Amino acid sequence: MEADLERILFDEATIHHRLDELAAQIANDYRGRELTVIAILNGSVILMADLLRRLPMPLKLDCLSVASYHGGTKTTGELVFRQLWMPDLAGRHVLVLDDILDSGVTLATIREKLESITPGPQSVRICVLLEKKKTRVRHVDADYVGFQIGDEFVVGYGLDYMERYRNLPCIGVLRKDLIAATA
Ligand code: IMP
Ligand code: MG
Repeated sequence: MEADLERILFDEATIHHRLDELAAQIANDYRGRELTVIAILNGSVILMADLLRRLPMPLKLDCLSVASYHGGTKTTGELVFRQLWMPDLAGRHVLVLDDILDSGVTLATIREKLESITPGPQSVRICVLLEKKKTRVRHVDADYVGFQIGDEFVVGYGLDYMERYRNLPCIGVLRKDLIAATA
C-alpha cells in the first residue's frame, strides 16, 4: 500500500506523539466534566481507538455514520445520515471526532444537527486529526486539530480512497495516477 503513496506526510510515531498532546489538552479542558464522544464513521475509527485510550477520564461513546463522497475525491455537498435515531445528548458535553476537515460540509451539517436536538447538548466541540488549509464550502471551526495540511488528497490512518487504505498506519498523499479520471 505504501508504494501507492506519492509521499508520506506523517508516520505512525509522529501521529501517536501528536495524539498524546491532543489527549492531554482535551483531558485538561474537560476536567471535572463528563464527555460524550461522537465519532464519525468510517474515517475516524483509527483515530477514535488511539485517542480515546489516551483520555484518562469518564466518557461515553456514540458513532454517527454519514456519507458525503460516494467514492470519489470531491464532496458532493450533500450529507446522508445513515442512522434512524440520534443519540440522547441532553445536557452532555459533546466532542465530535472526525478524520479530516475539508470542504466543511460534513462537520457544519453535523454540528447543526446536534445543536437542533431538544433537549440538546450543553456544549459541542470538534476534534479532527487533519485540517486542510483551503477555502471551505461551509464555514466551521475545529477546536482541536492534529495537523494542518495543504489541499491534497491523503489516505491512511482511517482515511480512504474508495474504501481502501484505511488500515495504512501512516498518512500520505495518494499518487495522482491512482486517482480515477472520473473522481
Ligand atoms: P468535508 O465534508 O468536505 O469537510 O469532508 C468530509 C469527509 O470527506 C471526511 O470526513 C473524509 O471522509 C472525506 N475526505 C476529505 N478529504 C479527504 C482526503 O484528503 N482523503 C480522504 N478522505 C477525505
Ligand atoms: Mg471517506
